[in-house]
Amino acid sequence: MAKKRNAERAERPSKEAIQRAKGIFKYLRPYRGMFVIGWVFLVLSASAGMVFPFLMGQLLGSGSSATPSMADSINAIDMSNVSTVVIALFCLFALQSIFSFFRVVIFTNVTENTLRDIRKDAFSRLVHMPMDFFNQNKVGELTSRVSADITQVQETLRTTIAEFFRQVFTIVLGIAILAFISWKLALIMLASVPVVAIVAVIFGRFIRKLSKEAQAETANSNSILEESLMGISNVKAFTNEMMLVRRFTTAIDYIRKLNVKSGLWRGAFVSFIIFCVFGAIVLVIWQGILMTQGPNPSLHSADFFSFIMYTIFMGAAISAIPDMYATIQKTIGATENLMSIIHQDGELELLKGELKPEISGAIQFKQVTFSYPQRNDIEVLKGIDLNVKKNQTIALVGSSGAGKSTIASLLLNYYPLTDGSIEYDGTNISEIDVRHLREHMAIVPQEVLLFAGSIRENILFGKENATEEEIIAAAKQANAWEFIQSFPEGLETAVGDRGVQLSGGQKQRIAIARAILKNPTILILDEATSALDSESEKLVQDALQSLMHNRTSIIIAHRLSTIRSADCIYVIEGGQIAESGKHDELIAQQGVYSKLVQLQTMEAHA
Ligand SMILES: Nc1ncnc2c1ncn2[C@@H]1O[C@H](COP(=O)(O)OP(=O)(O)OP(=O)(O)O)[C@@H](O)[C@H]1O
Ligand SMILES: [Mg+2]
Repeated sequence: MAKKRNAERAERPSKEAIQRAKGIFKYLRPYRGMFVIGWVFLVLSASAGMVFPFLMGQLLGSGSSATPSMADSINAIDMSNVSTVVIALFCLFALQSIFSFFRVVIFTNVTENTLRDIRKDAFSRLVHMPMDFFNQNKVGELTSRVSADITQVQETLRTTIAEFFRQVFTIVLGIAILAFISWKLALIMLASVPVVAIVAVIFGRFIRKLSKEAQAETANSNSILEESLMGISNVKAFTNEMMLVRRFTTAIDYIRKLNVKSGLWRGAFVSFIIFCVFGAIVLVIWQGILMTQGPNPSLHSADFFSFIMYTIFMGAAISAIPDMYATIQKTIGATENLMSIIHQDGELELLKGELKPEISGAIQFKQVTFSYPQRNDIEVLKGIDLNVKKNQTIALVGSSGAGKSTIASLLLNYYPLTDGSIEYDGTNISEIDVRHLREHMAIVPQEVLLFAGSIRENILFGKENATEEEIIAAAKQANAWEFIQSFPEGLETAVGDRGVQLSGGQKQRIAIARAILKNPTILILDEATSALDSESEKLVQDALQSLMHNRTSIIIAHRLSTIRSADCIYVIEGGQIAESGKHDELIAQQGVYSKLVQLQTMEAHA
C-alpha cells in the first residue's frame, strides 16, 4: 500500500492533485507579508549572485587588450584596475551575505509558522476521524505518511523553492548576458550545453527509477527489522531468530543487487557528463580564444573570461533543475496528501445529530443489526433488543467474538447502525450530538492504553480540572492508590516507554480510576477486571459495585461470579440474544448461562 502510494507520487501530479495541493496557499496567506519580503531578498541575492561571474571574469582577464571590454561599455565603474575589481568583489560578497541571511531567516520563519498550522489542523482532523477511518488506515502507516509529507513540504518551502527560482533566474539572465557579451559565442554555447543537459535529465530519470525501487525494497527490509524487534519476545519464544535472519538476508541481498545495478548506470552517467560537459566547454573556449586572437579581435579577453564563468554557472543551474523539479513534484503529492486529510469530513461533520437531550441512563436497543463498514458481508449483530432502565446494571456475557465489545462501540456511536435503532431516553442516537452523548459516558475498555505521561495525567483524562482530593479518592476507589504510592514519584510517575511499565492489572485500575473521576451517567466496563488476580478483583469489584450505584452500568464479563447481582443478564451468541434474565432465573432455565456457570464453578474447584 505504502509502496503503491510512493510510486504514484513519483508520477506527474494530475490537475486535480495540483488543485487540491493549492490548499496550502490558505496556510501561507497569514504570513504573506513576510513571504513577500523573503522573495525580495531572494531576488536581491540572486541578482547579486549574477554579478559574481562578471567580476571574476574581469579580474582574470584584466590584462591589456585593444578591444573595449563589457565593463568599458557599461561604463559604470572603471574596471580596468585590479584592486577596484577586488574591492567590488568584496562589496558584492558583503551584500550577498546580508541578503542570504535575511532570505534564509525569513523563509524559515514562514515555513515553520505554516507547518505549525498544518500540523495542528492535520492532528485535530485525525483525532476527529470516525472509527472506521482507523480501521481502514493502519496507524503506523498514517503517522509515518503524515510526518514524511510534512518533512517534504518543509524542505521545499524552506529551500527548494528558493533554489529553484535562483536557478531559473540564473539561466534566463545568464542567456541574456551571454548574448550581450557575444551572441555568436552564445549561440555556439547554447547549441551544446543544453543538449548535454537534456540528455543528462533523461539519463537521471532512469537512474532515479532504479534507486526508487531499491528504496521501496529498503523500506520492506526495515519493516522486517521493526516487526522483529517489536515482537522480540515472541521471536525468542518461538526460536524464530534464524528464520527472520534468513528473511532479512533475502531482502538485503536484493537491495544490494538493485543498488549495484544502479551504481553501474550512475558510473556511466558520470563519465558521460564529464566527457560531454567538458567537451562542450572546450568547444566554447576554443571558439572564444579564436575570437580574442588576431589583429582585430571581436572579443575582449576579460569578457571572454566572464563568458566562461557565466557558462559554468549556467551549466550548474541547468543540471540542478531536474532534481529540483522532481522534488517539487513530490512536494505537490505530499501537500495533496496532507490537504486531503485536512479536508476530510470528521465525526463532527458526518454525525449530524444536534439534539442535547437529558441523558438519564435509560437505553433501548430495538432490533439492532450491524456489520462493520469495511466488512459488510458479515453481520456481527443480528437484531439485538436491549432494554435498560435508569440506574440499572446489565451484564453481557457470551463466547469470544459473540459481539459484546461491538455493542459497547455502538453505545458510544462509533459506527452507524445497519438497521434498527438505539435510543437514549427515547431519543434516537443518530439525532443526539455525539459529544454531548459521550460526555455522559465512561468506558473501561478491554485493552487499556495509557498515554505517555504521568499517572496523574492519565487519571485526569477522565476530568481535566479535578482536584488533588478527587484524584486520590478515585485512585483509592479503584484500588490503585496502594501501588501508585509504592512508586517513589507517586502520581508523577511516568508511564509507558520512558517510565514505569505497568502490569495489565495496574493499567486496568488506572483506567477504572479515570472512569470513576469522570462520574458518568452511563458506565461501560468491558472485561474491566480481567487482568486482575482473584484477590484484587474482589477488591476492585467491591469498588465498582459502589461505583455502579446511581448510574446505569453495562458490564461485559467472562468471569460470571462478578455479575451475579446484575438486574438483567443478556447471553449473546453469534450476534443474537440467546437468553436474558436475572441470575436466578437463568439458572432455573437450565440454558446456556447455567451451563457456563457450571463450567466455571467446576474450573474453580479443579
Ligand atoms: N473493527 C472491526 N472490524 C471488523 N470486524 C470486527 C471489528 N471488531 C470486531 N470485529 C468482529 O466482530 C465480531 C464481534 O467482535 P467483538 O469484539 O464484539 O466480540 P466480543 O464478544 O467482544 O469478544 P471478546 O469476548 O473476545 O472480547 C468478531 O467476529 C470480530 O471478528
Ligand atoms: Mg470484547
